[in-house]
Amino acid sequence: MIDLNTMVDPGQGRNDPRIYTDQDVYQRELEYVFGRTWLFLAHESQLPKPGSFIQTYMAEDPVLVVRQRDGSVKAFLNQCRHRGMRICRSDAGVSKAFTCTYHGWSYDLEGNLINVPLEERAYRNEIDKSEWGALKVPRIANYRGFYFGTWSQETPEFEDYLGDMAFYFDAVVDRFDGGLDLAPGTTKWVIDCNWKFAAEQFASDMYHVPVSHASGLTALSDGLEVTAPLPSLEMPGRQFGGNGHGSGGFFSQERASRPPFIGEATYAWLRSREKETAERLGIDRAHKVHNHNTVFPNFSWLGNGFWTMRVWHPRGPGQIEVWSWTYLPKNAPAEVRAEIRQMTQRTFSPAGSFETDDGENWTEIQRNLRGYKARHNTFHTGMGLGHEEYDVHGLPGESNDVFAEHAARSFYRRWSDLVKGKSWTEIQESDKTRALSMSERP
Ligand code: FES
Ligand code: FE
Repeated sequence: MIDLNTMVDPGQGRNDPRIYTDQDVYQRELEYVFGRTWLFLAHESQLPKPGSFIQTYMAEDPVLVVRQRDGSVKAFLNQCRHRGMRICRSDAGVSKAFTCTYHGWSYDLEGNLINVPLEERAYRNEIDKSEWGALKVPRIANYRGFYFGTWSQETPEFEDYLGDMAFYFDAVVDRFDGGLDLAPGTTKWVIDCNWKFAAEQFASDMYHVPVSHASGLTALSDGLEVTAPLPSLEMPGRQFGGNGHGSGGFFSQERASRPPFIGEATYAWLRSREKETAERLGIDRAHKVHNHNTVFPNFSWLGNGFWTMRVWHPRGPGQIEVWSWTYLPKNAPAEVRAEIRQMTQRTFSPAGSFETDDGENWTEIQRNLRGYKARHNTFHTGMGLGHEEYDVHGLPGESNDVFAEHAARSFYRRWSDLVKGKSWTEIQESDKTRALSMSERP
């Protein structure tokens, strides 16, 4: 059994690769990480009216997320209390109630059991239906139209959980006057890799971009009159990491012209909104390029030109289901919305030119970890270690150079504290101590 106390060492920049393969670690993740963190459930645009529902997962647990008659949103385990069938098997829709397709038990919009077939004959009217409702997700938070749920009463309130990451999340979700919506439908695919490779990369890893995505960038640039598609390797930029979350690439330079992955209509429209965006976010935040992001543990998105959001649902230690959406400025003209969808399909989708680069890396690593020696060969996560700074360059919280693994270390620190079973009270205390010591650094 892997030693939980030494499996990751963010202070030294070391990871034991068995955290990506070990079944016991995985079972602890399900209980102590996914059971005690805020997980993305749905965006309000997916639940437009009373009775609207979508099916999703909290890690491996199927849940139904439902708009109630009073407008609130509730969620419950999508598991019938009779023999455990999924109560609802549709991906999404509008309903007045949910009836299990095995023997027909029915549940209302809150998950209460309201009908069992043959109640008089089969159950002699002796079943207390009020005791046999679906398991409810006890806490739901709505952050700017994004609904998150947690099973735990102990997890801090969502805003506290987000901490300084709110600044970076807002840079995308609070960017446009009319807000965002998600294009209908969820694109889903399977990658044979551990979920942490994906979540960590989106939190932290700008380092892979010039190498892994070199061919995709070259192909996309072909024939277009564009400037260098990538921020140059000299460009100043920062990466934020805190509370396990990460914003992996906050570049401090404006784009002089259209990058190849942003369509012409979209580029023109974004330029025409620059004043509005600057008023909403402040000129500095509005103009910075901010790419990868992860809200711990498994909700990620790309900013400034890639328009994709996704959840990395774990499926055992060696597999994930990616559920992804294209997010759109609600008030953008139809032409711009169509172009954004097309460009996002071209770049970050199952066949997207950049997406496939990332997936191939993660699959290859996971395959290597089948090897005994490979699985016991420590990984280096020490890039930029000791060079963190606090509240600098107009960015709140702990940040580091954009080419660093600061956010990855923050991710693994939070992850290991949770996997070890530390209480949220202990975790918050150590966060406070760390922030204090960071802010007092010369
Ligand atoms: Fe749902 Fe039997 S499993 S009614
Ligand atoms: Fe990538």
